[in-house]
Amino acid sequence: MTPGFVSFVSSGPGDPELLTLKAARRLAEADVILFDDLASGPLLTHAAPSAELVAVGKRAGRPSPRQDHVSRLLVDHAATGARVVRLKSGDGGLFGRLEEELVALRAAGIAYEIIPGVPSACAAAAAAGIPLTRRLTARRVQFITGADVTGGLPEGLNWPALADPEATTVVFMGKRTFPTLAAQLIAHGLPPDTPALLAEAVTHPEQTLTRLTVVTLAAQLAETRGDQPALILYGPLADP
Ligand SMILES: C[S@@+](CC[C@H](N)C(=O)[O-])C[C@H]1O[C@@H](n2cnc3c(N)ncnc32)[C@H](O)[C@@H]1O
Repeated sequence: MTPGFVSFVSSGPGDPELLTLKAARRLAEADVILFDDLASGPLLTHAAPSAELVAVGKRAGRPSPRQDHVSRLLVDHAATGARVVRLKSGDGGLFGRLEEELVALRAAGIAYEIIPGVPSACAAAAAAGIPLTRRLTARRVQFITGADVTGGLPEGLNWPALADPEATTVVFMGKRTFPTLAAQLIAHGLPPDTPALLAEAVTHPEQTLTRLTVVTLAAQLAETRGDQPALILYGPLADP
């Protein structure tokens, strides 16, 4: 049997209109679609009625399939000769465990392509009406994860870089750990009144954007944080 082919398709932040044309075409042509929680809902209406839809979502704090199981599913479906789409939220190359799945496909001799998409970080800035960079005050952007595999703040963070008041920092998966992160940032010299933005469910109907400062956002998240997916932006953010 001819082995199938896997398209890693980036879904963008959730609004189906932010899918690329290529992503929509691959979804329509797929025999099987393995999708994450944040890459589901209306995005899947692009799939053919005959396509097999397989949820392999990972959401913080909830049971989710192990990564090796997801990689195995990909290989097994492709080995049947199917056109497989692996649908990942935002841009699949950002905090999306893409590498583990590429390694599994290469080991099995299965061909693949990677289709980039709109990262949620870019969509969050757009929704807030601000740029990520600013000509004189924010010449650097850094994307970090606020959670390691245990859910805690990752070790070995580059504190001078993260406390740099001239960079825009975007924290993925950081609601739970932001109070600890913020305390460390301030201890490393970041002014407590540095602007911060909490961007939840970006481009979804329930989207909320909250402008605070690093210290007030940390205090808010220590009290309550809900379960919407969220990004935290801080740095010399432009006025909305
Ligand atoms: C596993 S990471 C995947 C990131 C994705 N590859 C991207 O480029 O946006 C999941 C995290 O991305 C962020 N995220 C993804 N989509 C989001 C959205 N629509 N609104 C807010 N945050 C989002 C949240 O921090 C969420 O916990």
